[in-house]
Amino acid sequence: MFDFDVIVMGAGLAGMRAALAASQNGSKVAVITKVYPVRSHSNAAQGGINAALTDRGDNWEDHAFDTIKGSDYLADQDAVEVMAREAGSEVINMEHMGAAFNRDDEGRLGVRAFGGQREARTFFVADFTGQALLHVLHEQVLSSGVQVFEEWFVTTLITEEERCVGLVAMDMRTGELHVMRSKAVIIASGGVGRVFEPSTNALICTGDGISLAYRAGAGIMDMEMVQYHPTTLKNNGALMSEAARGEGAYLLNAEGERFMERYAPNMMELASRDVVSRSEQTEINEGRGIDGCVLLDARHLGEKLINERLLQIRQLGIDFAGKDMVTDPVPIRPGMHYIMGGIKTDIDGLTSVPGLYAAGETACVSVHGGNRLGANSLLDTLVFGRRSGEHASEWVKTQAPASIDDTHASRCLEEIQSLLDRDSGEMFGQIRLDLGQTMNKHLAVYRDQKGMEQAKSDLADLKQRYASVMVQDKNKIFNTNLIFTLELGFMLDCAETTIIGALERKESRGAHTRTDMPERDDKNWLKHIVVSQSNGKPKIDYVPVNITKWQPQERKY
Ligand code: FUM
Repeated sequence: MFDFDVIVMGAGLAGMRAALAASQNGSKVAVITKVYPVRSHSNAAQGGINAALTDRGDNWEDHAFDTIKGSDYLADQDAVEVMAREAGSEVINMEHMGAAFNRDDEGRLGVRAFGGQREARTFFVADFTGQALLHVLHEQVLSSGVQVFEEWFVTTLITEEERCVGLVAMDMRTGELHVMRSKAVIIASGGVGRVFEPSTNALICTGDGISLAYRAGAGIMDMEMVQYHPTTLKNNGALMSEAARGEGAYLLNAEGERFMERYAPNMMELASRDVVSRSEQTEINEGRGIDGCVLLDARHLGEKLINERLLQIRQLGIDFAGKDMVTDPVPIRPGMHYIMGGIKTDIDGLTSVPGLYAAGETACVSVHGGNRLGANSLLDTLVFGRRSGEHASEWVKTQAPASIDDTHASRCLEEIQSLLDRDSGEMFGQIRLDLGQTMNKHLAVYRDQKGMEQAKSDLADLKQRYASVMVQDKNKIFNTNLIFTLELGFMLDCAETTIIGALERKESRGAHTRTDMPERDDKNWLKHIVVSQSNGKPKIDYVPVNITKWQPQERKY
């Protein structure tokens, strides 16, 4: 049995920031990750990270207000205040650690505009900001004494007397299960992207941490708030960064119109994401699209700027849409990108289960509410990753180790063995695809009761099929057939909480836009929806939104 003060599940930005903070505060820390750390999905973040720096004449209150308005007033304002206040120091800290941010003409850190914000406050490294930050944090973690278990897959959280005291994980290289005892666990394993098909997310984004927390009794909040990013490629769902519009690219319909003029005359292409995605979908639904897409036109930006700042997406357009943005508009459409909901936490990452923390996309603090602003996710990972690591490492100083033994591993082993012993049945692949397609059909930019009911009934069928799923590969070493099958179990839990939340919210707010209930209803629904398990069944609770000083207003861009 392994023994740590703090175990972090996930090696993306939130996980590594949490691990670093906990280690610097004196804890013995492990990071468990199912992929090599720099292959974590933070690697795919393109456009940048927001911070209001006072020496630019910007201020944290403006950033906070833009975030709250962007959230359609569902974000908790105390949490947003924390994030906006701590943003500057987090960005500067990353710069000091070695992140090579783009510079402006005066040699200062450069900024670009991003959606839903009145100031340009997005710091960036071309269009691979996440990758740059991830490599820097990885170096820091490697030199900090944190023990990293690469290609280890978490199967279960261990709770004793309702406190989280460790986890069981499989070393994928050997197939062996290990009990890892700790005084605190921080889940930072990313979102649920692949519960939807297609998605901008990596194939590894299967909601593992959210499902594990749900099974351990934690509250899962606002899962109905699913962000569809306005600019994704039709073929494979790949992300074409908002940075393109931040640098000045246009959105055009089939008639060559900059149609955002009709929907958001002030902010145009840089309205918040929910607004832009709805506008695009309306154009497409009303017959002004081209093969289910509208166009992202960056030609006027010129090859020099595109090569300096948007090189990755230029190549993505060439490879996956056959269009070079230097010479051609690129067909794009809204695509599933991010989950605003997640494991309910306070501003220090603590969940409703003592000893269990969550940070990053896995968590719902809630700073994004009904719609996240672009470039606030990297910020969220760093601010709340650090805070979780700091808080957990303080808390563990007051805790004695729990007395647990290897029986937890043997129980998991029995479950996995019974899965492996099954000789007939359906494989995971088609169930996963059917799940993704039903979610993408019925819980997308526009929703209604009938479609969401259909998703609920499809999910019940999919769960039944999963109950007799077969793993064909019976080997122990790197059994990805087994891992993908276990992931599918996590995905089904995440779909369940998403559909429950979506059916429950009887209004339109942020990304949750119902054609059958098109108005926001602050009187009845200015509240969070929390789903948890009680006696193995989902239970719904409501939590009020924390309003500090910004009263809900009509949202116009
Ligand atoms: O468009 C983008 O570069 C995505 C950024 C984000 O989701 O924050």
